[in-house]
Amino acid sequence: MTKEIVRIAAVGDLHCTKTAQGTYQPFLSSVNEHADILLLCGDLTDYGTPEEAHVLARELTTAVKIPMVGVLGNHDYESGQQDDVRKILTDTGLELLDGGSCEIHGVGFAGVKGYIGGFGRATLGAWGEAGIKAIVREALDEALKLESALARLRTQHRIVVLHYSPVQATVVGEPEAIFPFLGSSRLEEPLLRHSVSAVFHGHAHRGTLEGRTISGAPVYNVALPLLRAKFPDGPFYRIVELNMVADVPPENLQEAAGAQHPLAQAAAQSATSVPQAAQQPPIDRLQPAAD
Ligand SMILES: [Fe+2]
Ligand SMILES: [Fe+2]
Repeated sequence: MTKEIVRIAAVGDLHCTKTAQGTYQPFLSSVNEHADILLLCGDLTDYGTPEEAHVLARELTTAVKIPMVGVLGNHDYESGQQDDVRKILTDTGLELLDGGSCEIHGVGFAGVKGYIGGFGRATLGAWGEAGIKAIVREALDEALKLESALARLRTQHRIVVLHYSPVQATVVGEPEAIFPFLGSSRLEEPLLRHSVSAVFHGHAHRGTLEGRTISGAPVYNVALPLLRAKFPDGPFYRIVELNMVADVPPENLQEAAGAQHPLAQAAAQSATSVPQAAQQPPIDRLQPAAD
């Protein structure tokens, strides 16, 4: 049966180390009652070693009972063993996207790691040395992979999973000098051509919780260090609820969901979607994006 509301939980930058066994289970296990799908937005391991991936795999299989979708981050590439890391994590049932797409509970997901290059008028251009052109080409390749992943989805809700940010707004809070290394506006271009319900990313540990694309789609920075800093009482993931019934007015849906959801009070108290003073992350409820 089709769900009226699908709840998405998202977190990135777990940076699992080889000694982290037991660290993530307490907060990850709570996700089963609060969400229908868990997104993992890269930097899942700290140095990208198979040893770390095995530790995280045990944490995930022990704690998480709902479907998982994710992408790798730059740390998962650090040791050059990203293929092994990917295999170990996908063996847990985690759907790791790298230009791919999938559909769960009627919601479409498209994911890539993304890349660096900067934002807006400061976006790095393909000019000069071969090394510069290689960086730009890598960023363009990631954007093209995202474009084709989105083009394959026919669902009313399309959710994008990234590690690097597609917008500058959610990296604000980091030193401005490193903005070019935190994401790329080239990742935003596919988000403007294909309507998306929401975008989740990590990587900017000291960034900003929320921003929007030029076309108005919400962008959530769900880096775990950021969530821990902003919401020390947890839960250390961000939840977004998707209205799967297009003809239900959003205000009615909010009331209905508010009567049921344990975290809805915090959401109701949040007049906007910028929750600096809230004790817990607010829950945004999103309508399908218009085509
Ligand atoms: Fe990270
Ligand atoms: Fe990262």
